Amino acid sequence: KSIAKGSFTWSSPSNIALVKYWGKKQDQIPENPSISFTLNNCKTTTTVHFSKKENDVDYSFEVFLDGEKKDDFKPKIKTFFKRVEAYLPFLKDYHFKIETENTFPHSSGIASSASGMSALALCLMSIEKELIESVSEENFIQKASFLARLGSGSACRSLEGDLVVWGKHDKIKGSSDLFGVKYPYEVHQDFENYQDTILLVDKGEKQVSSTVGHNLMHGHPFAVERFKQANKNLSEMIAILKEGNLDGFIALVESEALTLHSMMMTSMPYFILMKPNTLEIINKIWAYRKSSDSKVCFTLDAGANVHVLYPAREKDAVLEFIKDELVAYCQNGQYINDIIGFGAKQS
Ligand code: PMV
Repeated sequence: KSIAKGSFTWSSPSNIALVKYWGKKQDQIPENPSISFTLNNCKTTTTVHFSKKENDVDYSFEVFLDGEKKDDFKPKIKTFFKRVEAYLPFLKDYHFKIETENTFPHSSGIASSASGMSALALCLMSIEKELIESVSEENFIQKASFLARLGSGSACRSLEGDLVVWGKHDKIKGSSDLFGVKYPYEVHQDFENYQDTILLVDKGEKQVSSTVGHNLMHGHPFAVERFKQANKNLSEMIAILKEGNLDGFIALVESEALTLHSMMMTSMPYFILMKPNTLEIINKIWAYRKSSDSKVCFTLDAGANVHVLYPAREKDAVLEFIKDELVAYCQNGQYINDIIGFGAKQS
């Protein structure tokens, strides 16, 4: 079908991995499977306006963040377009105006690549559906996740909720290296409305990008063992989620976070993304857990910020603990309260 112009809008959330993806092969194929909580409040809303143009050799698009033209986003989007063109042949037939905004402060140190790339992938899929009309609902989400993966690996876990697996795992039905799938097994009610308070420890630009970090896993002395361990941890997660084994959850999730950072510290060249306040917070969480029967725990992504995870029933107590003891370690006292969510929405 030939359509002169139109526009689509999608909101897509960020996600936080419990078993981490760190290390990839060509074409954004993960070295090991991962599982994440989809978030709810940290999200990107993107509108893509498309208008027909003469087919020529190059892509034609412009990008706006919060209404301001952002030419520095263009190289990343151009790379993404190049990677997905084989799957979206209309890309050179249209001019695109991409308007995007985040609910979280930019340069907050919260990566917007998962929410941003998944929202963009969904808008492009809506255009494809409008032009082709034969895309089924299931294929739509799967292909959007496939495309999002080519933008930023972990973005393929942001389309659905509340738990998403990406990467082939022999115990997880339907899992694939090519796209994320909704976690297919029983989850104990203790994980319902699980909370994630994100403590913004350092809002500065990361010294080492995740692309460089992933690449340093090639030939890393502990890589093979790490990939095996991630597979084993994901197997163990199945029983933990089913039984509501919160102590098992804490041990697995915190170990995953520290293992991710230990891979960074043992890369060559080595690097450290945690800051002194990251460690202060971790020690405070451990002390709090020791002095109470709390099931609060932490995880980290590729940065200094700390995600504080806890069951919904502990919300009031943990928020008080955060305000009394942890906010002092946040840059400008900033933190974001989030909760497990259910994925992207069209608007
Ligand atoms: O999706 P990328 O390439 O930005 O890598 C993200 C990797 C981690 O956030 C550190 C872990 C994960 O599984 O999300």
